[in-house]
Amino acid sequence: MEDHPPYPSGLRLAGRRVLVVGGGHVAQRRIPGLLAAGAEVVVVSPSVTPAIEGQVLAGEVTWVERGFADEDLAATWYVIAATNDPAVNEQVSQAAELARIFCVRSDDGASATAWTPATGRYDGLTLAVLGRREPRRTAAVRDAIVNALHEGTVAADVRRPSVPGVTLVGGGPGHPELISVAGRRALMEADVVVADRLAPRELLGDLSATTEVVDVAKLPRGRAAAQEGINRLIVERALSGQHVVRFKGGDSFVFGRGFEEIEACREAGVAVRVIPGLSSPLAVPAVAGIPVTHRGVAHDFTVVSGHLPPGHPDSLVDWDAVGRLRGTLLLMMAVENASAIATCLLAAGRDPATPVAVVCDGSMPGERTVLTTLVEVGADVGRHAVRPPAIIVVGDVVAVAHPNVYGGRGPDEASVSRPWPS
Ligand SMILES: C[S@@+](CC[C@H](N)C(=O)[O-])C[C@H]1O[C@@H](n2cnc3c(N)ncnc32)[C@H](O)[C@@H]1O
Repeated sequence: MEDHPPYPSGLRLAGRRVLVVGGGHVAQRRIPGLLAAGAEVVVVSPSVTPAIEGQVLAGEVTWVERGFADEDLAATWYVIAATNDPAVNEQVSQAAELARIFCVRSDDGASATAWTPATGRYDGLTLAVLGRREPRRTAAVRDAIVNALHEGTVAADVRRPSVPGVTLVGGGPGHPELISVAGRRALMEADVVVADRLAPRELLGDLSATTEVVDVAKLPRGRAAAQEGINRLIVERALSGQHVVRFKGGDSFVFGRGFEEIEACREAGVAVRVIPGLSSPLAVPAVAGIPVTHRGVAHDFTVVSGHLPPGHPDSLVDWDAVGRLRGTLLLMMAVENASAIATCLLAAGRDPATPVAVVCDGSMPGERTVLTTLVEVGADVGRHAVRPPAIIVVGDVVAVAHPNVYGGRGPDEASVSRPWPS
């Protein structure tokens, strides 16, 4: 068996009984793929991992709570022998051979009648890589192919015909790896990409030469007019038969005016879909190492826009109510108004010593965090020349992340630069 390469074949297991002998971590790794293929999975093992037990309780998997017996193979199409006892795996393998059922062995690929390939999926394709039982190599080749497909370097000549419409893609906080797989794929399949200033622009460099990029950061100023122009542009392009990706920073529905674009599309009868993105008020503190909740410290967080100063007639924020909250505050677009906002929060009773982190350019090469307190934040934003984009994190979670600074054990990382990934 060993001298010949395996013959690749795609098993269609939907509704067919597959026996998994063993309930440990190897079995646990194999079961999700079998379930995704629609197989009727039966696990035979005296014990199973908590994850498999969860699948049993959810009714996804049948568990026969004992050791293997030859009759378990009845009505079975495919077997995985995955116990940690080679004698049991051998017994399963021999019984399967007699019954002419293909059998994978976790311990001895050389005597198995089937091997599990390294698999990947891309846009309806299933990729399977088989070697001569070299799991690291096959996984590396699989990863390289799947990555190339995502990056478009392999997909270039097999692009699906474009479907007219608009896809709103949230690009995440800025680092090109923090976009979703679906978002990246949509970019690769676009006829035209309409990109915002805060969208992860490095990704635009990977687009095919035939994809048009419209940089709306360069449209004339005046917010309402600019937004109307964008609405018109995406609708017109979609009506002319193009697939438009509207590419934004973070998530399109978090201070991203995404729904205005949806409404414009709907009014014009243009098909529109949304691919969510990692929104900066959660993603930016995370990459800077600051948890927005922490057991015993903060059980709620509130995201607030600070683009209008407190008291501004158009502001919809009740700053007095916000100041009475005790959980974490995540202030967006608040650099310019940091001082006025802090004054309001203090007046509403928030402790002047409340720890504050101002995280600028989160996940991007110039990322830096200024650590301060609520009473000092206005002055520190000026002193450290903080420029947008920044997330201002207010609350004791900042001290959880930086105990040396706030615990009086001397300075550690105030005003630090921490590019992501570090
Ligand atoms: C117009 S809002 C867009 C928010 C975006 N839709 C989201 O979900 O993250 C822009 C604000 O998001 C925040 N922001 C976005 N990206 C950021 C980043 N990489 N670092 C820090 N703040 C960021 C800043 O507060 C910035 O002023």
